[in-house]
Amino acid sequence: MKMGPSLLAAYVVLLLIFGVHGTSTSGQITLQADVPPLEILPIIISGPPENRIDFTFFADGYLQSERDKFVSDVTRLAEDISQNQTFNTVQPLMNFWAAFTPSNQSGIGFNEPGDTAFGSYRYKTGYRVVVAGYQDIAKAARDSMGAKCDFPIVLANDPYYGGLDGEITSITSSLVNGALVLRHELGHSILGVGEEYDGGGEEYWGSNSANTTERASLPWAQWLSDSSRVGNQSNPRVERSTMPLLDYPWATLNTSTPWKVNFESSGDYHRYQVQFSVASLPNRGDLKVTLDGSPIDWVPKDGVGLDRWFYAFNFNEGLKNGTHTVQFELLNSEWNGKAQLASVEVVEYGNEDEFKLEPGFYGLYPTHAESENTTTYRPTNNDCLMRNVTVPQLCKSCMETLWNNFLGNISLVDNITESCTGTQKVLDLHLLPLAQFRGIPVTPKEAYTITWKKGGEPLENFKNQTRVLVDGDEAIGTYSIHVKFSTEEVRKPSSGLEKDVEYEVKIACPA
Ligand SMILES: *[C@@H]1O[C@H](CO)[C@@H](O)[C@H](O)[C@H]1NC(C)=O
Ligand SMILES: *[C@@H]1O[C@H](CO)[C@@H](O)[C@H](O)[C@H]1NC(C)=O
Ligand SMILES: *[C@@H]1O[C@H](CO)[C@@H](O)[C@H](O)[C@H]1NC(C)=O
Ligand SMILES: *[C@@H]1O[C@H](CO)[C@@H](O)[C@H](O)[C@H]1NC(C)=O
Ligand SMILES: *[C@@H]1O[C@H](CO)[C@@H](O)[C@H](O)[C@H]1NC(C)=O
Ligand SMILES: *[C@@H]1O[C@H](CO)[C@@H](O)[C@H](O)[C@H]1NC(C)=O
Ligand SMILES: *[C@@H]1O[C@H](CO)[C@@H](O)[C@H](O)[C@H]1NC(C)=O
Ligand SMILES: *[C@@H]1O[C@H](CO)[C@@H](O)[C@H](O)[C@H]1NC(C)=O
Ligand SMILES: *[C@@H]1O[C@H](CO)[C@@H](O)[C@H](O)[C@H]1NC(C)=O
Ligand SMILES: *[C@@H]1O[C@H](CO)[C@@H](O)[C@H](O)[C@H]1NC(C)=O
Ligand SMILES: *[C@@H]1O[C@H](CO)[C@@H](O)[C@H](O)[C@H]1NC(C)=O
Repeated sequence: MKMGPSLLAAYVVLLLIFGVHGTSTSGQITLQADVPPLEILPIIISGPPENRIDFTFFADGYLQSERDKFVSDVTRLAEDISQNQTFNTVQPLMNFWAAFTPSNQSGIGFNEPGDTAFGSYRYKTGYRVVVAGYQDIAKAARDSMGAKCDFPIVLANDPYYGGLDGEITSITSSLVNGALVLRHELGHSILGVGEEYDGGGEEYWGSNSANTTERASLPWAQWLSDSSRVGNQSNPRVERSTMPLLDYPWATLNTSTPWKVNFESSGDYHRYQVQFSVASLPNRGDLKVTLDGSPIDWVPKDGVGLDRWFYAFNFNEGLKNGTHTVQFELLNSEWNGKAQLASVEVVEYGNEDEFKLEPGFYGLYPTHAESENTTTYRPTNNDCLMRNVTVPQLCKSCMETLWNNFLGNISLVDNITESCTGTQKVLDLHLLPLAQFRGIPVTPKEAYTITWKKGGEPLENFKNQTRVLVDGDEAIGTYSIHVKFSTEEVRKPSSGLEKDVEYEVKIACPA
């Protein structure tokens, strides 16, 4: 979720009303916020904060008596995104912290800040935007933590879908959606990418997006699956699809009149998919969805309760040329005025030769903006959580950007330490715990290549060593160490994947 201008304006107004302690000095208004009390707890720590990317969760809408719930919510979310999926391969570069501030109110506000530490509220109806109203307080809290907070996340104590990216990321503690929203909003913040789903405003940019079919200008050119799959001027072929329907109704359903929408098909495609997202529909039988009168077998996600969820149905046949109707009929009056239809979309595809539906295929897939006038391209059909929030992984192009960004901001070398064992000097090169130094192994192959020099002369025997021993006075001098890290997840490395460090040994070990 990215914030459009109207939302931004709305929350800036709210900030002015609710968020800022203004002090007026000689007609000048300076805005400042007090740092709230913070109880800082390490959750998953991989190394010194000065040389890690640190993510800090701030508690909003948690009473003092809900402190343990906050800690367990943070632990669940941090583990979900870093233990075995999503950010697991870069986890040794990340630290996760929890910073607890008690709120006066359990839960968050609606349309305006509640009586909570960071003033989080759900914006309008719909399980969509949740934002921290007191951005200045969140920034003061972030700044007070120094190196322990590179990316602040306000965790709103609310059981339903919602969040927003930005300088301060907002998410909720929703059991089914909290981690999905966290992954997606962090994707915006740490990758600098826009949306990848259809209808994402005009917000398409970054390493998962291109506005031309030219091979050379594709940020994922190095990941294309089939170099012989070409279209115009030997550029990659555009996968053949179209989007005849996209609607974000955010409608409340009732049992008296079904919600329906028509769309036109050219009849020119071989397959199609119907997608929608709904909320407050916990049971099978609460809702009847039909396409041209034929029921679609909707079954609520296990354990979804009243939360929002995304559903997709694939049809291995073409739609006929002409007008079609999708209809949503609420059957259970218990949810009158509560059940929500958030989004509905139909995408049509060519046959498998014209459109590679198979997961893992990297090519040129058209993404449709709200206005049909603008089409951009993405690398995969459905392999990235920036497109499909229920997918737990980023595409390869995004992962590569993640490594490059992270290693652009921190060093492969934590430090070098010096000690003696007998008359021998011991130099220890402490590297980021990657490759052979990982605690938990990962699938992509990784390697460190290390070269040592002393006074400009290569030390061949020390190649790839992180601990070297040198006798007596010979140890004295300046060592230059070059460290290079490689991983299968990076094909176009940034300069951060290599590092030069110098270390001077001034005294020998006692003879
Ligand atoms: C990661 O672990 C969770 C919880 O055990 C599980 O649901 C998920 O499928 C696992 N993901 C992968 C990629 O193994
Ligand atoms: C809780 O309420 C008290 C009294 O109104 C107020 O001083 C305090 O700032 C509030 N705390 C938070 C975290 O909002
Ligand atoms: C296309 O993308 C490039 C690179 O992101 C950008 O500089 C350019 O302004 C875009 N062009 C249009 C017409 O959007
Ligand atoms: C050829 O290029 C145009 C313009 O970029 C694009 O719209 C079209 O889809 C391309 N065709 C193929 C088969 O790639
Ligand atoms: C019921 O829903 C339909 C379709 O969204 C809408 O047109 C109608 O106004 C609603 N009726 C009531 C009583 O809310
Ligand atoms: C679809 O039907 C319309 C109207 O009957 C016709 O003009 C058009 O050529 C048809 N398109 C295709 C692809 O058959
Ligand atoms: C999103 O990904 C999930 C999990 O892979 C899949 O079941 C679902 O069909 C996808 N949704 C869309 C709209 O493709
Ligand atoms: C399509 O985009 C171009 C360039 O931005 C603009 O001049 C034109 O008016 C647009 N057409 C429509 C139908 O929106
Ligand atoms: C540091 O990280 C930020 C945010 O991910 C990124 O925009 C920036 O490019 C990174 N810096 C370097 C030198 O890579
Ligand atoms: C050097 O870095 C390691 C982590 O790689 C850390 O455990 C150790 O405390 C650091 N030592 C010094 C002296 O900073
Ligand atoms: C050092 O490690 C790199 C990466 O594994 C490897 O390619 C290289 O052959 C090694 N060099 C020596 C001398 O072992």
